[in-house]
Amino acid sequence: MNVSHILTVTKNEDQGAGYFHLVARAPELASAARPGQFIHVLCAPGVDPFLRRPFSFYRLRPEAGEVEIYYQVVGKGTHLLSQIQPGTKLDALGPLGQGFPLDPKAQRILILGRGIGTAPLIALAEAARAQGTGVSAILSARNPDAIIGDRLLASWGVEVTTVTDESGTSDPAQVEPLLAAALDKPGTAQAFVCGSRRLARLLRRLAAARGIPAFGSLEERMGCGLGGCLVCACRVRTPEGETYKRVCNDGPVFPLEEVVLG
Ligand SMILES: Cc1cc2nc3c(=O)[nH]c(=O)nc-3n(C[C@H](O)[C@H](O)[C@H](O)COP(=O)(O)OP(=O)(O)OC[C@H]3O[C@@H](n4cnc5c(N)ncnc54)[C@H](O)[C@@H]3O)c2cc1C
Ligand code: FES
Repeated sequence: MNVSHILTVTKNEDQGAGYFHLVARAPELASAARPGQFIHVLCAPGVDPFLRRPFSFYRLRPEAGEVEIYYQVVGKGTHLLSQIQPGTKLDALGPLGQGFPLDPKAQRILILGRGIGTAPLIALAEAARAQGTGVSAILSARNPDAIIGDRLLASWGVEVTTVTDESGTSDPAQVEPLLAAALDKPGTAQAFVCGSRRLARLLRRLAAARGIPAFGSLEERMGCGLGGCLVCACRVRTPEGETYKRVCNDGPVFPLEEVVLG
């Protein structure tokens, strides 16, 4: 981890549905970061908001010296971020946390994303594609406008299935057969989920029944982002019983069999 960076924002565009796409020049960060890791960003100069805000990498483009994040405006920090103009310098710590353990030999992986939680799975799919690994994607959101990355994935040849609350197709009971069929595709070696604990529970069950390792990227509120304050603790199972791990440092990506999903 090379920790402290000043990013130069080159694009920060409204994508509709409350989402923004931010691109920033940060050559060292782009080279060091891995899909599933995150940056901890000061959304405005000064002390308000006092705490940094964590964002996963949506795309990593070391050849262009750029990193990209995709974010949803939900409160003060993300609102301030959405006001930033190209040329602005952004103070960020990173790359932080443990990324997705993509198997370099995997023939195929499955990604399962809900809403803004799909963002880090796009970086993962791009890395998979670069090493010749096939990707199946199931993307869920409240409506079609809130689905992220489907066109980008399709342009990479990824077979994308979308489900939405609006069309009544996103309920876990309806996602189950789609997910089972995707996991049963020949060569599927790993599965990854982000953005929904309900979908994470479903994936854990279906992947375990098939002996496919499954991983989830968790979101918790964060303080330091560096492992020191314990604000981000999540419950995990160990052979000795339940204990806590830090999402910022031990995660955000965990094996699904390990985490207590509530
Ligand atoms: C490892 C990690 C990666 C993330 N990656 C992304 C990303 O790629 N794109 C993106 O849009 N968001 C991402 N988030 C969530 C993002 O950090 C929060 O939405 C942001 O911090 C909210 O800040 P705010 O000041 O706008 O809202 P606040 O005023 O701080 O909160 C507004 C609302 O959002 C909820 N909230 C705030 N932070 C979190 C959180 N960490 N988890 C769940 N709910 C929260 C609050 O409970 C409240 O209801 C990520 C979070 C983590 C932990
Ligand atoms: S945010 Fe401080 S320990 Fe994780």
